[in-house]
Amino acid sequence: EYIRLLRGLVGLETELAERLSLRKVIIIPGDSEADSAVRRELGRATAGVLSQYLGDNMIVAVSGGSTMAKVAEAVNFTLPSTTIVPARGGLGEVVEYQANTIAAVMAGKLGGRYRLLHIPDGVSEETLEAILTGDGNLRTVAEVIKQANILVHGIGEAVEMAGRRGLSAAAIAEIERRGAVGEALGQYCALPGEIVYVTSSIGLRLDDLAGIGTVIAVAGGSAKAKAILAVAGTGGQDVLVTDEAAAKAIQLLI
Ligand code: G3H
Repeated sequence: EYIRLLRGLVGLETELAERLSLRKVIIIPGDSEADSAVRRELGRATAGVLSQYLGDNMIVAVSGGSTMAKVAEAVNFTLPSTTIVPARGGLGEVVEYQANTIAAVMAGKLGGRYRLLHIPDGVSEETLEAILTGDGNLRTVAEVIKQANILVHGIGEAVEMAGRRGLSAAAIAEIERRGAVGEALGQYCALPGEIVYVTSSIGLRLDDLAGIGTVIAVAGGSAKAKAILAVAGTGGQDVLVTDEAAAKAIQLLI
């Protein structure tokens, strides 16, 4: 806390919370892009925030990503009545970074339960509809996701995420053309906070978070400043856990 005060991070937290219309912003000293110890800290701080909001018998939805993998790893408390679900499935990440994997790891740490979304990557909306209609278990999991009390998710740079998830060159060009800079939950956002491209999938959408009690976003590194601003601009976010590098870059943009 002393270091954060010394570096003016506590004042910056208040400033960003106000400017981004968030309930709370937490800033970790340093740059998680450059320093793996800071990346770990970002995960620890986010796990700490989760523990503050988590109560008995809650459903927690989680996104994928390397940052969320650190969050799951950092959970160091148990609450066996918790159910963890992926917020959205089939986005085309490598297994380690898939929301299903993060959900299973986090549930393991908490001693809780998890439900997984087994849906294929990159299928059309019609195919998804057909799968949902024919698969009762999938429908049940989709309903559990909608009832989540807490959502914890990462934020990525739009074009980088589109490439990482194996979107076609045409789709990536379209995402760029529409001015997307940020991505969360498979949705691509332009500044100041407009969803301009959506990958078809099942689960939570950025424009549909009103029913979720607490939405916690985690993202660090100065390269993600615009991405964080664009995603926060869509509304529906409550808590942002970030690092000094991203926070100072955001300050320069607002
Ligand atoms: O949706 C955003 C991504 O999950 C962020 O991924 O944490 O690996 O940068 P990352």
